[in-house]
Amino acid sequence: MKQPKTIGFLDSGIGGLTVLSEALHRIPGADILFYADTDHVPYGTKTREEIVGFAVDAVETLCERGAEAVVVACNTATSMAIRQLRERFPIPIVGMEPAVKPAALIHPGERVLVCATPVTIRGEKLHTLIDRSFREGVRPTLAALPGLVTLAEEERFDFDSVRDYLRSVLDFGEHYAAVVLGCTHFTYFRDSFRSLFPGADILDGNAGTVNRLVDLIGGEIPGKGTITFLESGRLVAEPEPLARFGRYLERMRNL
Ligand code: DGL
Repeated sequence: MKQPKTIGFLDSGIGGLTVLSEALHRIPGADILFYADTDHVPYGTKTREEIVGFAVDAVETLCERGAEAVVVACNTATSMAIRQLRERFPIPIVGMEPAVKPAALIHPGERVLVCATPVTIRGEKLHTLIDRSFREGVRPTLAALPGLVTLAEEERFDFDSVRDYLRSVLDFGEHYAAVVLGCTHFTYFRDSFRSLFPGADILDGNAGTVNRLVDLIGGEIPGKGTITFLESGRLVAEPEPLARFGRYLERMRNL
């Protein structure tokens, strides 16, 4: 395989930037195309057919613009569409899954909370992953948190909004050894989760996904280290939307 220089990342919106921010340290030479499907966010409340269609359009656009490998930086799109994407596009495609396996390995027999979008929580992929990872003992508690996607898209990261939303949907009486953030939008709230679940391990799949990418394509990529943003296929060139993407990357640097 020729080493890819241009790597595409896709998400329904800005969640995938949490994965990109991790990748930037590991593959600094890569030329990045980041596709945020802003016309269709959120994916987490759509049908499988819709999500497959959006993901195929996104990868098609990324390939047309020169992507030689793609990271589906979205647990929901991976859960619904990864098979179809791999069948259709002859390039390396890395998907994401909630960090259920590490949670089960690090905390055998302990209580784990898995948070994701409604589509991921209902999806067969997550249930198969849980069956394989938790062969015996307590099963994890599952929580669909679509409200966090909205808060992240609106750049509302203040602790009070996050706490009020989580209190309205979660039972805080329970102690969890680990909380799995199974949606890339949720990683922006890592600090709030740490405060709300003191002592719990807050896990996401971002580092695992980037490790997989580096295993596949190598880390020394001889590109120019450029980043190009696309919103549902349209090139982002205006200062305000570019600044918005920059603010999310900045938040990740400081988290
Ligand atoms: N960021 C996405 C994920 O990892 C999906 C959020 C959404 O669009 O509902 O699942």
